[in-house]
Amino acid sequence: MDKINAVITGIAGYVPEDILTNEDISKMVDTNDEWIMSRVGIKERRVLKKGLGLSCMGTKAANDLFAKTNTKPEEIEAVICATTTPDYTFPTAASMIACNTGCVNALTFDMQGACAGFLYALETVANYIRSGRYKKILVVAGDVMTSITDYTDRTTCPLFGDGCGAILVEPSHEDLGIMDVLLKTDGTGLEHLHMKGGGSVYRASYKTVDKHMHFVYQDGQYVFKHAVTLMADACIEIMKRSNLTSDDIDWVVPHQANRRIIDATAKRLDVDENKVLINIENRGNTSSGTIPLCLWENEDKLKKGDTLILTAFGAGFTWGAAYLKWAYDGKKA
Ligand code: UT7
Repeated sequence: MDKINAVITGIAGYVPEDILTNEDISKMVDTNDEWIMSRVGIKERRVLKKGLGLSCMGTKAANDLFAKTNTKPEEIEAVICATTTPDYTFPTAASMIACNTGCVNALTFDMQGACAGFLYALETVANYIRSGRYKKILVVAGDVMTSITDYTDRTTCPLFGDGCGAILVEPSHEDLGIMDVLLKTDGTGLEHLHMKGGGSVYRASYKTVDKHMHFVYQDGQYVFKHAVTLMADACIEIMKRSNLTSDDIDWVVPHQANRRIIDATAKRLDVDENKVLINIENRGNTSSGTIPLCLWENEDKLKKGDTLILTAFGAGFTWGAAYLKWAYDGKKA
């Protein structure tokens, strides 16, 4: 029997309407547009209204995806949601998205790979499809990072935004789709990037709230140094094992945490800057959402057979790269 490949057959996304500019942030903490643009490359980010959760964004993205791919929700056999900021600790955001969109025949689960979450979801969904048992899977990846951002901490509050992407993944015998995914973990990264409170160690209490323990804590420089090296290393390793050179790459789609990390990664891969998809300036770091949002917003540029390298780095540390051969031409209406 021919090999079954797992193919992305449609993509959609959602970002909230409300915009938080650098000027807005400079009224909250001691910062300015010049610092944020030159050090990070973010001008503005989107913010989900309080009282709404990730499932609200995921539902909108999934409904659009089903409309543009003529998919009946009851045909969906699995809903996988990559996120660090689900609506609730339990139940899963995936179960809520499935309920809201009419995916009544699907298994559902959330998975957390922090900022590398979309790559983790790709590896997972690819193997479900390759098994031959699943024919239509919805993956939603995104975060409500503003719900865990400390707007009194100038070292982290300019970085994050809210948004999510959604993809439909189906089997194909064509030589297209999710060709390879490389994932790595180094748990010693814990102390440099994490949310201290609210888990089973520091259970939510007045004390954890007073100490701002329910927000992202990051040792920025330490994370920067690791991200800049390890994202490029992962790309080089996956290209080598797939016999790809820089000339073979049509698009690089990096996690959008810092414009300087994106540029350094592209430089090490020796890929022209026109081939690098970037939306950090208007979206900020949406964690699991960065890569699918970037793909969605650039869908019109992608052609059938294009070679894409995706890469991300995040808390854990978890990081990696994926090699895709895009399966269709341009934007699906
Ligand atoms: O997505 C998950 C993975 N995360 C990442 O990949 C993020 C990696 N880290 C970074 O992107 C960068 O480290 C940051 C953007 C977080 C920080 O940039 P940096 O160039 O590493 O700045 P820094 O932490 O070295 O700080 C430089 C200076 C410091 O002042 P002094 O000590 O030199 O006087 C900071 O206090 O900039 C100061 N600073 C600020 N100044 C104005 C820090 N934040 C701000 C701010 N506005 N918002």
